Amino acid sequence: MKKRLILCLIPLGLLTACGGGDDAAENAGAMPAESMVEDDAPADPKGIGEIKHVDLNSPLNEDMVTKGSAIYDMKCAACHKLTDMRVVGPGWKGITDRRTPEWIMNMTLNVDVMLEKDPEAQALLKECLVRMPNQNLSQEDSRNVLEFMLKNDGKS
Ligand code: HEC
Repeated sequence: MKKRLILCLIPLGLLTACGGGDDAAENAGAMPAESMVEDDAPADPKGIGEIKHVDLNSPLNEDMVTKGSAIYDMKCAACHKLTDMRVVGPGWKGITDRRTPEWIMNMTLNVDVMLEKDPEAQALLKECLVRMPNQNLSQEDSRNVLEFMLKNDGKS
């Protein structure tokens, strides 16, 4: 069943993801892929996507927390609780201890590719059985949500 779900959704993901690496992933083994992105490289704790480095604020920027909270209410709360309780997706309590800031932002901004290629994201998909839809956040919005997550985890 999961496989069918993925097959239905892959074409959408490829449209936005682009680049040879995706073809290589889809046809792994069937295509000579020497010059393409390595698909079986060891997992990167920063995940896969444009976010390579995040500078954290100390203390937290309360303005960003407020903006992040509003985005959470609008776009994330339906599937993510702020406790450790899973609803559709995992609860966010402790997420900033489990994941790097870069991984969290790449998962938010580049979820289709993450679910295709990042082993940690794939493990979540196995548990949750639902693919997180891309919420189309800007980098700035995603950074604000991260600030809100840090606040939710009691960081200061
Ligand atoms: C329709 C439900 C849904 C919505 C809405 C949603 N997510 Fe998710 N999210 C999921 C699911 C399900 C997973 C687990 C991975 C999977 O199965 O795709 C997940 C996983 C995640 C993870 C990784 C969680 C962990 O424990 O490592 C992050 C980060 C995340 N989502 C961020 C967001 C953000 C930010 C928003 C709002 C902008 C959002 N999600 C909105 C369903 C959703």
